[in-house]
Amino acid sequence: MCGIVGYVGKRDAVPLLVEGLRRLEYRGYDSAGVAVQNGRGLELRKCAGKIANLERLIDESPVGGNIGIAHTRWATHGAPNQTNAHPHTDCKQEVALVHNGIIENNDVLRAKLTELGHVFSTDTDTEVLAHLIEETFRGNLEQAVAAALTQIEGTFGLAVMSQGDPGKIVVARRSAPLLLGVGENGDRAMWVASDVAAILGHTRQVIYLEDDEIAILKEGEYETLDLKSIGSPGGLQRIEKEISRVAWDLERIERAGYPHFMLKEIHEQPNTVRDATRGRLLEEEGTARLGGLAEISEQIDRAERIILTACGTSWHAALIGEYLIEEFARIPVEVEYASELRYRNPVIPPNTLVGGISQSGETADTLAAIREAQSRGAATFGIVNVVGSTIARETHAGVYTHAGPEIGVASTKAFVAQVTALALFGLMLARRRGLSILEGRELVKAISGLPAQMEEALSSEDHIREIAAEFQDARNFLYLGRGPNFPIALEGALKLKEISYIHAEGYPAAEMKHGPIALIDEEMPVVFLAPKDSVYSKVVLNIEEVKTRGGRVIAIVTNGDTELAKKVDHLIRVPKTHPLLQPILNAVPLQLLAYHIAVLRGCHVDQPRNLAKSVTVE
Ligand code: G6P
Repeated sequence: MCGIVGYVGKRDAVPLLVEGLRRLEYRGYDSAGVAVQNGRGLELRKCAGKIANLERLIDESPVGGNIGIAHTRWATHGAPNQTNAHPHTDCKQEVALVHNGIIENNDVLRAKLTELGHVFSTDTDTEVLAHLIEETFRGNLEQAVAAALTQIEGTFGLAVMSQGDPGKIVVARRSAPLLLGVGENGDRAMWVASDVAAILGHTRQVIYLEDDEIAILKEGEYETLDLKSIGSPGGLQRIEKEISRVAWDLERIERAGYPHFMLKEIHEQPNTVRDATRGRLLEEEGTARLGGLAEISEQIDRAERIILTACGTSWHAALIGEYLIEEFARIPVEVEYASELRYRNPVIPPNTLVGGISQSGETADTLAAIREAQSRGAATFGIVNVVGSTIARETHAGVYTHAGPEIGVASTKAFVAQVTALALFGLMLARRRGLSILEGRELVKAISGLPAQMEEALSSEDHIREIAAEFQDARNFLYLGRGPNFPIALEGALKLKEISYIHAEGYPAAEMKHGPIALIDEEMPVVFLAPKDSVYSKVVLNIEEVKTRGGRVIAIVTNGDTELAKKVDHLIRVPKTHPLLQPILNAVPLQLLAYHIAVLRGCHVDQPRNLAKSVTVE
C-alpha cells in the first residue's frame, strides 16, 4: 500500500527520502515521487514503476533541498502512471502533498473546485486536496490544511509543504497510519512516515499520530494539534504526545543473506514460535498468561460466543483459531471476513467477544469490522503483529504476536505467530473453563516442542525444491485437508497463487467429490494434508479417488507414516504434534513449495504483482 516519508533538517532531503521509500518497497506500489523545497521553489520528480526509475530520473535531472516529502503509490483512483504519481500540486505549484487513503467526496469537491476556476491535471482523488488547500490558504499552512480537511469525507495520512509558508511540513491523519520521527543525539532533523521502517535507519524516537491529529514539523521542532479544534476560539489546540522508542532495528528488516525476504521469514519460524510464546507458557499451571487481555478479563469469563474477523492469510489463521478454541474451551466461535462483517447487520449479542486478527494492524476492513463490533457494545481484542498499529490501539485489549517485521508481501511467519497466539488464547480460555491441569500441561509441552519440530520440517527444503521443479509448469493446483488442516489447504493454495500466479484452490478433502473431482486428471497436481489423526483413513480414501483418476498427489504426512508412501507420487514428512497444533507444522512445507515454484518460474517473490502488504483502503 502507499508509503509516505518526509524530512526536514540540515541534510539534502532527496537521498534520505529515496532511501526511506526503499524501506517501504515491501508494502507494494506502482509509482513513486518526491518533492523538495529550496531557493527555487517546489521541485518535483516522479515516475511510474519502481524506485530505481525514480533514482534514474533524479540522476538525469538532479534536485535537492533540505526539506521534502516522498511517496510510493498503489493506485486506487486513476492509472498507475507518472501523472497520477504523488506528490500532487495545486494550480500555482505552490502546494505539494502526498496522501494515503481515499477522498470519498472527490467528485463533488472536484466539480466545486473546477467551478471556482481550478484546473486539474491528474485522475487522482488526492489532487482535490492540493486545490482545496490553495483555496483555504491565508498565509499559514496548518490552518489551511485543517480548513481543507473539514471539507473532506474519507481517510488520509497526509504530508504537505507550501511555498507560501516555507520551511515546514504539515501532516495529518485519519484512518491511515502516520508517525513522526524525532532526530536523536543532537540531530535536529524531523521526520514523518507511514511506517517506522522508512526512518529507522536515522532515529528510533517516534510519535504515533492518532486519528484527527495534525502536526507541524520544522527543523528542530514539532507541534501536535487537535484537528477537531479548528474553528474554536483559540484556534487549533495543542496536544501533548509521548515519544516512544522503537525496539526493532534495521538489521532485522534486512534479508540476512537470504535471496528473498520470504525465504528468510520462512526460516525464522522456529524463532517466531519461540517469540510468540516467550514468557507466556506456565508449565506448572498448565496454562498460558496473556497480560494484554487483562483489560477484558471479566468479559472473557462471561463470554458465550467469540467472533474472529480478519482478511487474507489472517483469516485463515482465524479459521484455525475456531478449531482450537472450540475444541479446547468449548466456546462457539464464528469466523467472518472483515469486509463482510463491516457491511452486514451482524448479530452481536451481549457476552460476545470480537477478535480482529491482523499482521499489520492497519487493514482497513478489519479495523472497520472492529469499530462496527465496538459500536454494538462488544468487547474487542486484537491479535496483531505491528506494535502501536491502529488495530492494536483501538481494540480494548490484545495479544501481540511478536513475529518482528514481515517484509515479504506473502505472509508466512506472521501467520505462524497468529496461529501460535490463538493456541495460547485457546489454552488460557480452556483452563479458565475447566480443562484439567494435566491436559493443560500436555498442551504446554506440545507448544514448547514446536520450534524444534519446525526446524525439522524446514530440513525437507531440498526435497521440496525437487518436487517444485517437477510441478513448476502446472497451470492449476488443488489443496485438500480436513479439520484444522482445511484452513492450511486454503493457505497453501493462497500462497501458491499469490507468488507463482498458478491458479490454486483449497477445499475440505471430503468436499472434493462434490465438484473439484471433475477437474482431476494427470494435469492436476493435488496436495493432500494427511497427518495421522482421527480423519486420516478418510483422507487416504480421498487420495485413492484422485489416484484412480490419474491425478498426481503430493502428500504432507506425519513422521512414521508407512502407508501412503506406496500410494502417492511424492511424500513430504513433518514431525507429529497435537492434532490441533499440527497445522502450524504443516504450513511450513506448503510455504516452501510455493516459494520454490515461484522462484523457478522467475516470479518476483517478495513483491508479487498487484498485491500489497498492508491494505489500508477498502
Ligand atoms: C494483504 C496481504 C496479506 C494479508 C492481508 C491481511 O492482502 O497481502 O498477506 O494476509 O492483507 O493483512 P493483515 O495485515 O490484516 O494481516
